[in-house]
Amino acid sequence: MPIYYAPSILSADLTRLGEQIAEVVEAGADWIHIDVMDGHFVPNLTLGTAVLAAARRATDRLLDVHLMVERPEPLLPAFAKAGADSITVHVEATPHIHRALQQIRALGCRAGVALNPGTPAEAVFPVLHLVDLVLVMSVNPGFSGQKFLPEVLPKVRRLRAELDERNPEALVEIDGGINANTLPQALEAGAQVFVAASAVFGHPEGARAGLKTLITAANKAKRQE
Ligand code: DX5
Ligand code: ZN
Repeated sequence: MPIYYAPSILSADLTRLGEQIAEVVEAGADWIHIDVMDGHFVPNLTLGTAVLAAARRATDRLLDVHLMVERPEPLLPAFAKAGADSITVHVEATPHIHRALQQIRALGCRAGVALNPGTPAEAVFPVLHLVDLVLVMSVNPGFSGQKFLPEVLPKVRRLRAELDERNPEALVEIDGGINANTLPQALEAGAQVFVAASAVFGHPEGARAGLKTLITAANKAKRQE
């Protein structure tokens, strides 16, 4: 299965967003991940449609919007209009996850469902036929730069196996604490999309070096398979 790299601009230098995106695209980024936090669902407030629209002007790569927002439904059209290719909502954030995923697809976007570390895989089983991706949080969402939680790896494995049965085209995305040491563990468990903020944009030698380090680690792990 192909794998995809999705650097998160949460740790980018936003004074030069276009350059930062160009740098990671040149280094091999497949998607650009955009972390939207509302200060309610998670204890932080981050990017919105204005930054998404700016990213849209900077690249043709898939823009992967991760909504860490309570009751995200009313905001979906604005994110689709601002240029999202894919919109992911949290299963914990709405009592109507089924309808929210249908709404995302009706807007012409890929639909994703995300799970916090404390949420079991089974919570999304009823909607797996409606998704293009399942995002497994490997930190408690809210901030970049946190430590990877290895206890989510069995959940990655379980979701990949269930998707193989019911929706094999759908991807498993892992988000939080991904670096050159943790990426191979997530890859081995069955993740195909790797989100990373601090390991890419916070790399001491710059974003290009940061992403190259992840790609090298993944290639090495794949050769050892
Ligand atoms: C966490 C966000 C992540 C975060 C990842 O709440 O959903 O996308 O930016 O940051 P790192 O890669 O630094 O853990
Ligand atoms: Zn994210």
